Amino acid sequence: MYSEKVMDHFSNPRNVGELESPSGIGTVGNAKCGDIMRIYLDIDENQRIRDCKFKTFGCGAAVATSSMATELVKGKTIKEAMEVTNKAVMEALDGLPPVKVHCSLLAEEAIHAALWDYAEKNGITIDGLEKPKSDIHEEEEEEEY
Ligand code: FES
Repeated sequence: MYSEKVMDHFSNPRNVGELESPSGIGTVGNAKCGDIMRIYLDIDENQRIRDCKFKTFGCGAAVATSSMATELVKGKTIKEAMEVTNKAVMEALDGLPPVKVHCSLLAEEAIHAALWDYAEKNGITIDGLEKPKSDIHEEEEEEEY
């Protein structure tokens, strides 16, 4: 049911933890399943993501997608990190079962929320970034996969 990569990132998640003085923090939850994810970003003066950590109180797919998402955004510029969508994360994990697709949305939204926090703290705007929701549940109902 799950790919080897999903199992690997679930059993041995990368970048778990917190950053002491992050440039941005994003927390999102899904009220339907009760899962919560928090992402910490350390962004340097050239708007490159120097470090990234996460904490996820959630299902295995949420842990695996957070782990992969942090790996994908690390070392990237903000602009590049904006291209790390839930689809990109799922592809990097060789897919997720359809019922678990919503879990990958948490990772995308948490990164966006952390970038939003960074942008607000620094008085900048990030192209294509919309104010994040704290609960992805509503949007999920409307979208089709
Ligand atoms: Fe809630 Fe996976 S079931 S994030």
